[in-house]
Amino acid sequence: MSLTILGIETSCDETASAVYRENSGILSNKLFSQIKLHKQFGGVVPEIASRSHLEKIGIIIQKALDEANCSLKEIDVIAVTNRPGLPGSLLIGLCFAKAIAWAKQKKLIGIDHLEAHIFSPFLEYNVPFPYLCLTASGGHTSLYFVTDFGKFQLIAQTLDDAAGEAFDKVAKFINLPYPGGPVIEKLAQLVDFEDFFFYPRGTSQVTDFSFSGLKTAVLYDLVKRNAYDLHEKIFLKDTDERLKQQVASSLLVAIGDIFVQKVKDALKQYSSAKALTFVGGVACNVYLKQKLHDLCTKENRSFFTPSPHFCTDNAAMVAFVGYYKAKKKEFSGLYLDILT
Ligand code: KG4
Ligand code: ZN
Repeated sequence: MSLTILGIETSCDETASAVYRENSGILSNKLFSQIKLHKQFGGVVPEIASRSHLEKIGIIIQKALDEANCSLKEIDVIAVTNRPGLPGSLLIGLCFAKAIAWAKQKKLIGIDHLEAHIFSPFLEYNVPFPYLCLTASGGHTSLYFVTDFGKFQLIAQTLDDAAGEAFDKVAKFINLPYPGGPVIEKLAQLVDFEDFFFYPRGTSQVTDFSFSGLKTAVLYDLVKRNAYDLHEKIFLKDTDERLKQQVASSLLVAIGDIFVQKVKDALKQYSSAKALTFVGGVACNVYLKQKLHDLCTKENRSFFTPSPHFCTDNAAMVAFVGYYKAKKKEFSGLYLDILT
C-alpha cells in the first residue's frame, strides 16, 4: 500500500494543504493567500493572520482532499508545520492537525518549515546529493550543505534581516505595495537590471548574510537625494518613476551579487557539492535565478529551483517531508507543541 500524506502549513500568511502519495507524487496543492488582508499594513499582522487561518483552514483542507479525490479514510499521516513561524498561526494548523489525528486515529508528524523549503525541489526534480541549498524568503536567508533526506548542515545565515525583508522594507520606503519582491523585480526589469547607486554588499564572512545594512544604506541614500524625510518617514518623490526603477534595480543587483559571492565561496569549501538549489519566496525572482544559474554553469554544477508555487509557502513541500519522515517512522505524539 502506498503511503498517503496530508500536509498542513500555516506558519505565516498562507493557509495551505496538500496531499502527497508515495509513487504518485503531489495529488493536490491548495492554499489561501492572506496578502490582500495584510497589504494595507505594509506587512504581516500576526493577529489578523491567525484569525484568517482559523476561518480558512477547514475549507482549504477539504479542497485539498477533494482535488486529490481522496477521503480522510485514505490518509495515513498528517504532516503539519510546527516550527518556526508566527506562534498564533502555527497553533491553528497544529491544533487542527492534532484534532484530526486524534479523532480519526492518524499518525502525526511535526515539520520544520525550513526543512520543507530545503526539500521542495524534490517535488519536481531528483537533485543529486550532496548539494548546496540557498533558502531566501521573507523570514530567512540561509545556506545549507545537504547530504541526504533530512540531513543538512547550516553553512551561513542572516545576522539580521532576511533578503525578502530587504525587498519588502525598501519597497515600503519608496511607496511600493507589499510584498515588495515581485514589484521591485518588475521595476528593475524596466531599466535592464542596471546598477545605478552601487549600494554596499555587506559582510564578507562566509558564514554570515546581512541585509539590514543594505536596507539602511538605501534609506540614507534616498535622504541624501532629498527623496525621503526621515522625521516624517515619507517618500518625497512618489511621482518620480525613474527614481523608483533605479532604486529597485540597484537593490536587486546588490542582492544578486551578495548571493553569487556567498555561493561561490561556499562551493570552494564544499567542493563535493554536485548542485545548487535556490528555494523560498525570493527564488521566484527570475533575475536572481539567472545569476545563480550562470554561476553554476561556470562552476560546473547543476542548478535546480522549484516552480514559483513551490517556492513561496505551500503545503506540498510539508507533505513531502512528512513522507520521508513517515518512511523512517519518525512520528510525533499528540503532545507535539509549536516551536519545539
Ligand atoms: O517563502 P515566502 O512565501 O514566505 C516566507 O516564508 O517568508 O517568501 C515571501 C518573500 C517576501 O519577502 C517577498 O517579497 C519575496 O518572498 N518574494 C520575492 C519575489 N516574490 C516573492 N522577492 C524577490 N523577487 C520576487 N519575484
Ligand atoms: Zn517560507
